[in-house]
Amino acid sequence: MTGRKLFIKTYGCQMNVYDSERMADALAPEGYALTDRQEEADMILLNTCHIREKAAEKVYSELGRLRPLKAEKPGLTIGVAGCVAQAEGAELLRRAPAVDLVVGPQSYHRLPELVRAAGRGEAALDTDFPEEDKFELLPKSRARAAPSAFLTVQEGCDKFCSFCVVPYTRGAEASRPVERLLGEARDLVARGAREITLLGQNVNAYHGEGAGGEWGLGRLIRALAEVEGLARIRYTTSHPNDMDDDLIAAHGEVEKLMPYLHLPVQSGSDRILKAMNRKHTATDYLSLIDRLHAARPDLMLSSDFIVGFPGEAEADFEATLALVQTVGFGMAFSFKYSPRPGTPAYEREQVPAEVADERLQRLQALIARQQRAAQEAMIGRELDVLFEKPGRLPGQMAGKSPFLHAVHVNAPGLEPGAIARVRITASAPNSLSGELAA
Ligand code: SAH
Ligand code: SF4
Ligand code: F3S
Repeated sequence: MTGRKLFIKTYGCQMNVYDSERMADALAPEGYALTDRQEEADMILLNTCHIREKAAEKVYSELGRLRPLKAEKPGLTIGVAGCVAQAEGAELLRRAPAVDLVVGPQSYHRLPELVRAAGRGEAALDTDFPEEDKFELLPKSRARAAPSAFLTVQEGCDKFCSFCVVPYTRGAEASRPVERLLGEARDLVARGAREITLLGQNVNAYHGEGAGGEWGLGRLIRALAEVEGLARIRYTTSHPNDMDDDLIAAHGEVEKLMPYLHLPVQSGSDRILKAMNRKHTATDYLSLIDRLHAARPDLMLSSDFIVGFPGEAEADFEATLALVQTVGFGMAFSFKYSPRPGTPAYEREQVPAEVADERLQRLQALIARQQRAAQEAMIGRELDVLFEKPGRLPGQMAGKSPFLHAVHVNAPGLEPGAIARVRITASAPNSLSGELAA
């Protein structure tokens, strides 16, 4: 059958964004074409995230909203993919009667079979961690690539931070082979990509099979830099303990590697870092930042923080504020600790909600000040901007600076994918604006 429409709603991290594209690839031979209009879809896939409690609850409420749609359109297939699918499994089929199909992050190459089973009215559930490599089995992408594209190089995590569901939902750490990745990168560039962000739950733990043995991420980045037509390389998300010498050196040596690094630290208190099972101290993190800055002095940093982790006292939280003061981040994400069933920290005594809320506000205020300062420091500078799409105003284009700032420019002649030099003239809360440099 042909002419069917597929709508995918993506939650969570960038790996889910990449996976959603690959799920569309998996379903294309079945006659499904992507649509961005849910109301015309024959299949709706929710690609979900389980990282915090609210994330999972959002999925159940979305499924509740989809139920009447299903009553109106009996042929509609509703599927749940991603980390909630992995964690909840058959419970989803029980709790949300609108759901026809459940597929975990390691099984989406099996989507065609699952869709056929759902079509026959059979239970369609696959949350295995299969032996085979799903990436080897997916059909080649034919869609046009975005100017800034994602490429998953590594999946899963063996670190088991005591708060985190990822090792359970994504499974053990595994890396894709070098040749496959170089091939996919060349293909992305041929389909329109100018920038590639290498993805992994622990991307710098990358250790893929390459010429002469296992390659680290630094070596992979150096090889990718040789891909003609590729202008920019980024990677996310990294763990401080996996920043090896070669990767740090790459920041100083590889021109295409952009001067921005997201390096989550979670807390500035050694006591809390230990309780989180992070296996690094605040000092380890700060000296790592020094080494990175020695390699690339203008490297801009961002991070993730959890406040109100079980056992966090005011002094621990102040150590986090002190670390933020010392580093000076370009931006950062901060979250209130969310107890996740099945993780070691789940049973521990919680910090009262009002205390955690108050700390979150203080941390976010500090981060916002640093973000504003980092943006304002760009005013008057000339930066290369990779343009991605038209902006909101007529003639306006939106793109990204090397430091990942969103930049808006009046540039009616430019196409998405163009890289042009821009003089930054102003800073808004979450973006910069500028004019094309003469
Ligand atoms: N692999 C990355 C991050 C994965 S999850 C790393 O190692 O840093 C993204 C972020 O979500 C984490 O960095 C953490 O700050 C946050 N997070 C994870 N579990 C959480 C929980 N239970 N409660 C609140 N925030 C959480
Ligand atoms: Fe989660 Fe820690 Fe693994 Fe990151 S390193 S994915 S926070 S367990
Ligand atoms: Fe969420 Fe899974 Fe990514 S839990 S953050 S979608 S790895």
